[in-house]
Amino acid sequence: MKRTLLIILTITFAVACRENKQPQPFSVIPMPNDVTLAEGSFNVAGAPVSYDENVDAASAKAIDGFVKTLETVTGKAGKNGKNGGIHFGLNPNLGAEEYFLQVKPDGVNVEASAFGGFFYAIQTLKQMLPAEVYGAKKAKAAWLLPCVTILDAPRFDYRGIHLDPCRHFWSIEETKRYIDIAATYKLNRLHWHLTEDQGWRMEIKKYPKLTEVGAWRSGTCIGKDFDSSDGIRYGGFYTQDQMREIVAYAAERNITVIPEMDLPGHMVAALAAYPELGCTGGPYEVWTRWGVSEDVLCVGKEETFNFLEDVLTEMLDIFPSEYIHIGGDECPKVRWETCPLCQARIKSLGLKAHDGISAEQELQCYVTARIQQFLNERGRKIIGWDEILEGDLAAGATVMSWRGTQGGIEAARRGFDVVMTPNSHMYIDYYQSQERDKEPLCIGGLVTVPKLYSYEPYDGMAPGTEDHILGVQANLWTEYVTSNEFLEYMLLPRMCALSEVQWCNADRKDYARFDASLDHTFQMLDVMGYTYAKHVRGIIGLPGQEQPARTEEELKKYLEEQPINW
Ligand code: ACM
Ligand code: ZN
Repeated sequence: MKRTLLIILTITFAVACRENKQPQPFSVIPMPNDVTLAEGSFNVAGAPVSYDENVDAASAKAIDGFVKTLETVTGKAGKNGKNGGIHFGLNPNLGAEEYFLQVKPDGVNVEASAFGGFFYAIQTLKQMLPAEVYGAKKAKAAWLLPCVTILDAPRFDYRGIHLDPCRHFWSIEETKRYIDIAATYKLNRLHWHLTEDQGWRMEIKKYPKLTEVGAWRSGTCIGKDFDSSDGIRYGGFYTQDQMREIVAYAAERNITVIPEMDLPGHMVAALAAYPELGCTGGPYEVWTRWGVSEDVLCVGKEETFNFLEDVLTEMLDIFPSEYIHIGGDECPKVRWETCPLCQARIKSLGLKAHDGISAEQELQCYVTARIQQFLNERGRKIIGWDEILEGDLAAGATVMSWRGTQGGIEAARRGFDVVMTPNSHMYIDYYQSQERDKEPLCIGGLVTVPKLYSYEPYDGMAPGTEDHILGVQANLWTEYVTSNEFLEYMLLPRMCALSEVQWCNADRKDYARFDASLDHTFQMLDVMGYTYAKHVRGIIGLPGQEQPARTEEELKKYLEEQPINW
């Protein structure tokens, strides 16, 4: 009898402890810029949720979605009414992505001026709750928000992530998952790299062969043997309706999709479809190997400009983004050097070599300027890889600095706006550890989580030019990334570290605090079913191929040896 009583008491105590309802430790990523925690908590289960009548439709939809989530995971429907619940109110004094959030024992007050602010307040609220809030079913958890006052706004306006669906193709559903997780960490741009030597991915109605021919390659090289081929036809493309669907889906998550047509290089897939656009006339084949092709668009022909303008016209109809990415990287000039039409254009424009810049480089500047003018006249702006800086560049262009930081520093010095995406820190197709034999095959390099986290975008800039830095982006090229699981393994948690580079003021960054917060992020990712890399916990490899966990001693040594300034 006594024993039974003891068991009952023990169980009752354990249940009471579990239900002794402490909010989970504050571990929001990216860390809000002003946070004051207080004693106490607020229970969201069954709490009434309300919002000002005049919030815009997008904000209302986001709030309604949050209410539905709370109802699903807590199993309790929120009651109507403004008192003692969660209220979302308009505050026109806040910036577009700024929000104020106060949790008290008797209610929660959220303020924002626009959709971005409301959306980010909701992301913060969700991260303050148990990870099960990211699930699709009722969960037993302490549905408590800690009492806190937050005033939060991003350090940078441009917070990007890039995706390459050309080297390997990502379905609409996979792309939406990518967008979902980017939005969770408050990123607001998806740079969608839609054209490449290895595949053209955009349906263009006026040029059907771009997808009939250009979207398919006859095989893919095996590993790093570029002359080999697995012989398996590979490809895919997005219809215009599907691209519109992605644009709308992203917009509901405060993400603008920036499409890229990479020109005048990286165009072999388009040349395979329309060989008359090349200098030699081909024939060309959609590339099965990686690298940089010497075959590029022939810009001596007017036909090529007609093609580019036609494609851009259809792109503008699909993508409302202010920026259109025009590529501009890795365009060898060997074909232009011997092409009579390209040379005739150089002559007629009076382009000359000067100051280490060749006449052919100036010809690329001419292409950039013509496309820029075309887009400017239609109310859009160009952004391009840092090669567009070589030679003259017209005012109003924005430069994406990828070959380290120097291009960005130089562009800002010359008065251009810049997005920093240096391969030294922001190429997340690079390896995540020095133990390459334990990793899936990658392109090379090394970008660990702490290394990416350590990046400071203003380092090396001429004083007074910092305002030209619009923001930061990480790039995920997919030559070697062959599955969605692998894609997510490369993305996460490096994108979480990226989010703090983009969002947090420099003095808010703290790697130890960030690392501790990753425990909660990993729980969230588990609930959502994302694959993620566990190097920061000493585990290397894709799921199913993971190396055995290290001992505590081994882990300490491993983490100490992870290079930041490699
Ligand atoms: C690039 O990585 N070629 C921009
Ligand atoms: Zn030519």
